[in-house]
Amino acid sequence: MSKQYNLVADQYDMSFQLSPYRLHIEAYSVFNLVGDVTDQQVLELATGTGYYARAMRRQGAARVVGVDIADQMIEIGKMAEQAEPLGIEYHIQDVTQFKPDTLFDLALAVYLLHYAPTKEALFAMCKAIANDIRSGGRFVTYQLNPNISREPDYYLKEPGLILKVTEPTPVDGEPMPFSAKIGDMVMPEITAYRWDKETVDAALQAAGFTDIHWVQPQLSPAGAEQYGAETFAGYLRQPHAVLIECVKQ
Ligand SMILES: C[S@@+](CC[C@H](N)C(=O)[O-])C[C@H]1O[C@@H](n2cnc3c(N)ncnc32)[C@H](O)[C@@H]1O
Repeated sequence: MSKQYNLVADQYDMSFQLSPYRLHIEAYSVFNLVGDVTDQQVLELATGTGYYARAMRRQGAARVVGVDIADQMIEIGKMAEQAEPLGIEYHIQDVTQFKPDTLFDLALAVYLLHYAPTKEALFAMCKAIANDIRSGGRFVTYQLNPNISREPDYYLKEPGLILKVTEPTPVDGEPMPFSAKIGDMVMPEITAYRWDKETVDAALQAAGFTDIHWVQPQLSPAGAEQYGAETFAGYLRQPHAVLIECVKQ
């Protein structure tokens, strides 16, 4: 993974304020699946600007460590830490290189696995993640939906998430350059890789994860109230990202 996200670090953190999608579908669904983190040791991989790290610490996690390869994303997390010290520890590192000083109860990764550019890299990433988690601990992740819509402009209608996927050829491991406009923020094109469910499941199993569940994102009741459930109905029929939960053996 290159440091593609350094280019958008400044605006990225704002995307939660700008985007009903991020707040009312992504974050709502992630927090639902993560559940109660009180007193847990939590690792956030691909933490970016630390949005989820801060939220989990505020929700009572005993310790939160954030890891990301993009120094400028982490820089924003550190600035937030200065403004509101929560004791979050940040590391600028590729997740496959990260060496934990303890084993975590929970690892969360929102938008990570689809940046593994090869099958070997995907397997190595899952193995490295498993090595960070105690036996019986959980890994929760949110990643590109292998069944992402191939319809041109399918996501262009969604408020707060305008995503244009290019070169749609459904092959396992295909590079998927995409551009997104979140609120007023236009992200430069970024390349992700589309991995089939079977491939992701195989990588997680080989890494020592069991009880693997794929979960569809949902709209928060507050989002439905504010924007109307029908606003997101098309998106939710074929969301561009899905959740996975699994347990370290
Ligand atoms: C879409 S951003 C998501 C950030 C954060 N999880 C969020 O949801 O706000 C994806 C992040 O993954 C990071 N990333 C991608 N591959 C990585 C890797 N191998 N190791 C560490 N970070 C990685 C990028 O630098 C970027 O900050």
